[in-house]
Amino acid sequence: MAKLLVPLVVLGAAVSGPGVPASPRCPPRCLCPSAAPSPTLLCARTGLLAVPPSLDRGAVELRLADNFIGAVGRTDFANMSSLVHLTLSRNGLRRLAPGAFADLRALRALHLDGNRLPALSGPQLRGLASLRHLILANNQLAAIDAAAFAAFAATVEDLDLSHNNLPALPWDAVAAMGSLATLTLDHNLLERVPAGAVARLPRLARLDLTANRLRALPPVPGPPGPALAAGGNPLHCNCELLWLRRVSQPGRLETCATPAPLAGRLLGGIPEEELTCRAPSVTSAAADPPAVTEGQTLRLGCAAVGDPPPALHWLGPDGRLVQNGSRRSVGSDGSLELRVATLRDHGGFTCVAANAAGEAAARVDVVVLPLPVPRGRDAEDTEVTGPGPSDMAQAGGNDTWDRPRATVAAEVTGSSARIRWLPQRHLPGVRMVQIQYNSSADDALVYR
Ligand SMILES: *[C@@H]1O[C@H](CO)[C@@H](O)[C@H](O)[C@H]1NC(C)=O
Ligand SMILES: *[C@@H]1O[C@H](CO)[C@@H](O)[C@H](O)[C@H]1NC(C)=O
Ligand SMILES: *[C@@H]1O[C@H](CO)[C@@H](O)[C@H](O)[C@H]1NC(C)=O
Ligand SMILES: *[C@@H]1O[C@H](CO)[C@@H](O)[C@H](O)[C@H]1NC(C)=O
Repeated sequence: MAKLLVPLVVLGAAVSGPGVPASPRCPPRCLCPSAAPSPTLLCARTGLLAVPPSLDRGAVELRLADNFIGAVGRTDFANMSSLVHLTLSRNGLRRLAPGAFADLRALRALHLDGNRLPALSGPQLRGLASLRHLILANNQLAAIDAAAFAAFAATVEDLDLSHNNLPALPWDAVAAMGSLATLTLDHNLLERVPAGAVARLPRLARLDLTANRLRALPPVPGPPGPALAAGGNPLHCNCELLWLRRVSQPGRLETCATPAPLAGRLLGGIPEEELTCRAPSVTSAAADPPAVTEGQTLRLGCAAVGDPPPALHWLGPDGRLVQNGSRRSVGSDGSLELRVATLRDHGGFTCVAANAAGEAAARVDVVVLPLPVPRGRDAEDTEVTGPGPSDMAQAGGNDTWDRPRATVAAEVTGSSARIRWLPQRHLPGVRMVQIQYNSSADDALVYR
């Protein structure tokens, strides 16, 4: 872009000549070679410290590259609803006010490359409803809010985020860009491209992931599929990269970092049979403690090896997949915590490890001992020596039994209730109050 600009500036100077006064709507030191109805304002390399306030608000093109504009305010580009092309490249720009581009409804190309923007928040690019080209290369971007791209998700064709510090992208927002043809992400710190992130982009023709920190790469659709560059990543070359090996064209630069025998070799030169995976094997699976009384907490641990590292999940004694919930918490390390063990948890749990090469399973036996108290409602006597009857209030209402009310449940919600019990002068020797509850989210009664 800079190479194109310099001759334009020289030409403009020759036409207007040093003695010709600038038009009243042309900011000082700028060149305005074409006037209404499509004014063009050329202000590149003019030593500007801020966006000139005297801009022609009807301009269609505004070039402000190679100046020293460190911040863009909310009203700097106000009312410029005819602007089609805006260049702010190489300004040392650090601050972009929320809504700074809110009036630029017609803008098709926004060049913000070569600045020092540290992050993009939701409202900063608000209003850019016609944007086709967004060039943000060579900034210091370390984070991008998922909402930052919302205004132009349907229109953007060319998104350049290369040479930034991005460890991650809002991939769901990228996946929604139905017109995207070129996605340039080289020279960032990306560690992961989620499976399917680019699979839904029907127009994608070029994807550059060169020089990131990717160890794996999910299959990109094709052929024909987009032209893909992924060299300069520490790829782990196993069976999951066979697809990339197969689309390799001459001149491709993907190299392997691991496993050790393949380190440093070009992926395209490795025979397919050397790109192998290893089926999982479970190295440990145990319950801690192995036996509990109902109501107590118990933790199941599981570890497995394999290439790629296997994903772990648990099947309960009923053979069903254990879901994360209020009583059972599934950890990302493959552990399973039974926060409140119930009699239904008694039995064999199965840890299943799975990866691209296969599956392995290990059984862990869990012993849940019943509480040593009667659980029937009919025990009417209140012996001093034995436990008293269970006086259970019905959830959502008052005690509905015809004996005198002993407990009241109030403020009942889906996950909490306030329990109050009344003084029991005629029941000497009350030793324990037992609360029994269930929740519509779980299918087991719980005693405490
Ligand atoms: C933009 O237009 C509004 C309404 O016409 C006006 O009040 C405001 O001063 C204008 N702002 C600029 C910077 O021209
Ligand atoms: C399960 O839920 C807990 C919080 O209740 C959360 O910390 C954990 O990440 C969740 N695990 C999975 C696998 O979603
Ligand atoms: C619970 O009991 C109180 C006082 O006896 C009464 O005012 C209230 O309406 C009752 N609530 C329900 C849900 O029956
Ligand atoms: C949980 O409580 C509701 C309401 O009292 C009841 O209809 C349901 O049967 C209970 N579930 C179990 C497993 O007892």
